[in-house]
Order: sequence, then C-alpha cells, then structure tokens
Amino acid sequence: MTSLTQPFLSVDALHKAFVLHGQGGMTLEVMRDLHLTLSPGECLVLSGPSGIGKSTLLKMLHGSYRVTGGALHLHFEDGELSLGDLPAHAWHTLRRDVIGYVSQFLRVIPRVPAVEVVMEPLLARGVDTADARVRAETLLARLNLPERLWRLPPGTFSGGEQQRVNIARGFIAEHPLLLLDEPTASLDAANREVVIELIQEAKARGAALLGIFHDEEVRDRVADRLLPLTPHMGVALGAAPFAGKEGVS
Ligand SMILES: Nc1ncnc2c1ncn2[C@@H]1O[C@H](COP(=O)(O)OP(=O)(O)O)[C@@H](O)[C@H]1O
Ligand SMILES: [Mg+2]
Repeated sequence: MTSLTQPFLSVDALHKAFVLHGQGGMTLEVMRDLHLTLSPGECLVLSGPSGIGKSTLLKMLHGSYRVTGGALHLHFEDGELSLGDLPAHAWHTLRRDVIGYVSQFLRVIPRVPAVEVVMEPLLARGVDTADARVRAETLLARLNLPERLWRLPPGTFSGGEQQRVNIARGFIAEHPLLLLDEPTASLDAANREVVIELIQEAKARGAALLGIFHDEEVRDRVADRLLPLTPHMGVALGAAPFAGKEGVS
C-alpha cells in the first residue's frame, strides 16, 4: 500500500439492515442508499437525530458490523480495497495500520493499566516499548489525565477519564483514516479544546476523519463538511426497538 489518493474513502449506495434474531428473524432496515466521499486532510461530520444510523456507519467502516448492500472502498495509489467482504485477518491489518476508531465508550480490559491501553496500538506495529510509553504518557498528559492514574486500570475511572484514555489510544498511532464517535461527549471545556487540537493536527498531517459530534461548537470548529443523515438514507425512526446484538469483533 502506498500513498493515499483523493478521495481516500468512498461509500456508494450503502445499505444496512439488521436481522433481529430475538424477534423471530424480523429485519430492521437502518440505512438505504448512502453515498459519501472523504479525502485526506478532511473532516466530514455526520449529523442527524439519535437512532438514524451514525454509529452504525462507523461500525461498518471499522468492520464490526456487516454491510448488507452497496460498496465501501479505500483508494490507494496502487489500487483500491473493497471493505464489504474482507476476511477477518485483513481487518486485523487494516485496523492496525489504516483505520483508527474512537468508540463512544472505552472497552475496559481488566487489570491492564491506562498507559498500556494507550500504548497497545503502537506495540502492535512493532514500536519499541520505551518509545511507545513516552508517546502514551505525552498524550495522557496533554489530555490532563492525572499522573497517579496512568498505572491503574481504567475500569473504575470516571466517564470523562475513560473517554480521555480512549481518545489517547485512538490518536496515538496516527492512522490515515480516523472514525470518531462522540469523542467529546463527557469532556469539560479544557479537554474538549485538546481534542479539537488533536483533530486539527491529524488533518494537518493528512488524515481523513469521519466524526460524530453533538457539541455544535466542536462541530463547527473541526468540520470541513457536514453530512446530515435523513430518514431517506437512515430509516430507523419509528422502527422496531433494538432487540438483537450483532457480533462486535
Ligand atoms: N447491533 C444492532 N442490532 C440491531 N439493531 C441495531 C444494532 N445497532 C444499532 N441498531 C439500530 O440501528 C439504528 C441506528 O442506531 P445507531 O447507528 O446507533 O444510531 P445513531 O448513532 O445515529 O444514534 C437504531 O434503531 C438502533 O437501535
Ligand atoms: Mg451513535
């Protein structure tokens, strides 16, 4: 894989339906005919009411939810990669090297200290442990996580503290594509400002970002474009309540 092209990501006629096994196999159609493109150095912000399918789109782009129609492509100078039907081992490599994701909530792994949670994406790429630790500590300090917490597992941290660990983990490896699911939702103004800076730095180094931000000020300061999801593309409003759980890998 070589340099990124313009656009780097394209989404064409994307369709998503969940099969609700707990409801006798009923189908819940969440997305129909969604199109978007995203270029290096650009931040596209998804908007629209709760339940319209914003997080679902990010999860499809991260390989946690299956695509049920249409196409997702990453474009590299030496060719394009279709994400719709990738085998699991290819997702592992893509998540390590290309697609970073800041989920809405940190997935807590018992007994792993915060600093190691943040270092892990660098270690996976073979970065030296001492270097990875310094970079993780630098990010945790920037995000004002008190030093006394760095060596503790984040399981008992407050929501905002866990979110900062999650953000540091998501930004540390400088992925070319970053998916951000409400990364500032439980942060105070000072830490929101740090996240805005991290996003601007990622754009400046040429990363492509796709994000969800409820805070209008944050949205206005980071977004190059807005993509409002409407019931035309996201049709979940008024549909059956969430009943099944799709495997998250
Ligand atoms: N794993 C799942 N199984 C079944 N339905 C789901 C699943 N994940 C999300 N949904 C449904 O898809 C719709 C869109 O959800 P989501 O993408 O989380 O919305 P948003 O992020 O825009 O608030 C909702 O109706 C939600 O209940
Ligand atoms: Mg969501």
